[in-house]
Amino acid sequence: MAADPAPPPVLAVAPGRVNLIGDHTDTTGGLVLPMAIHLATTIRGRRRGPSIRLTSDTEPEPALLALTPDPGPGVVVPDWARYVAGVTHELGPAHGLEGEVATTLPVGAGLSSSAALEVAVALALDAEPGPWPHVALARLCQRAEQWASGVPCGIMDQLASVAGVAGHALLIDCTGLLVEPVPLPEGVDVVVVHSGEPRRLAGSAYAQRRAEVTAAEAALGPLRLLAPGDEAALAEPVLRRRARHVLAENERVRACATALRSGDAAAAGALMAASHASLRDDFEVSTPALDALVEHLGATAGVHGARLTGAGFGGCVVALTERGALHDGWKVRAVDGAVAATTAARAASGATARSR
Ligand code: GLA
Repeated sequence: MAADPAPPPVLAVAPGRVNLIGDHTDTTGGLVLPMAIHLATTIRGRRRGPSIRLTSDTEPEPALLALTPDPGPGVVVPDWARYVAGVTHELGPAHGLEGEVATTLPVGAGLSSSAALEVAVALALDAEPGPWPHVALARLCQRAEQWASGVPCGIMDQLASVAGVAGHALLIDCTGLLVEPVPLPEGVDVVVVHSGEPRRLAGSAYAQRRAEVTAAEAALGPLRLLAPGDEAALAEPVLRRRARHVLAENERVRACATALRSGDAAAAGALMAASHASLRDDFEVSTPALDALVEHLGATAGVHGARLTGAGFGGCVVALTERGALHDGWKVRAVDGAVAATTAARAASGATARSR
């Protein structure tokens, strides 16, 4: 009997993201304005066998996972394999995957390298039949991230990786999960600069902040339905500050999207600077290194504004600048969201198997 033909190769590419403004709002169904970036994670492999066997160009140990029985996140090693296991836990694939992971994203810097890995794994395992709806894929990968990291993260990172639009930031209402592309103005750069401090989400106060916001909402009602100033009804000063950040940040996101649409980079930059001050003083997720970097960039000629990006507690700062103003960091381009291809021809040409 003839041997089964080798399964066709699969290629999946998922971008990281940088958030221009709107941090610690997604978990309350608020507004965010991220963009998918050209730094990305790629998986090349074949769907076969009863297990997952992935090597990585940035990790010394491979991810070797049986599909059943489902291991708990605590027993999966090495650490990066946990995010792969999170996806298989959520997806329950009928087949294995053998291949290589390559990434141009800095790991653990706040540019959503874990979200990019999750999205790439999900697409490599299950890009067909049929295109994934953006939100379903992002939600699956958000649950994978929560399973793997134990951090009660929101959906921004995974949805930005899935739904990116070249040349655009994405205004996302995290209640309805509507994604509205906002064109980036001509003549600006988006530059990401690392503070030098690693960002440690799981060990950070992310879950504590989320609990504080939940407590504020228990007293005030859903923050997404309230306006700046409504937090004054909270007696407890820490909860009041947390709510004040979220309410003002939603307004800033809206205003920043309007400023970008009208080509007013200076106004957008001023809102980014105000966002950083709020994350520093009211939400208390900045660090001295992030503050010093934001201050330095803010005082640099040609910089419209800078702020910490993502969860905070270390990691990166994002700056909106005149073209060519900064020579440090990564000048990031806004790109289309994740794609996958499953036939040899498509994989060779890099064409997408998913439609939007
Ligand atoms: C992390 C989470 C996101 C979001 C940001 C803060 O990146 O994964 O869901 O909450 O922090 O805006």
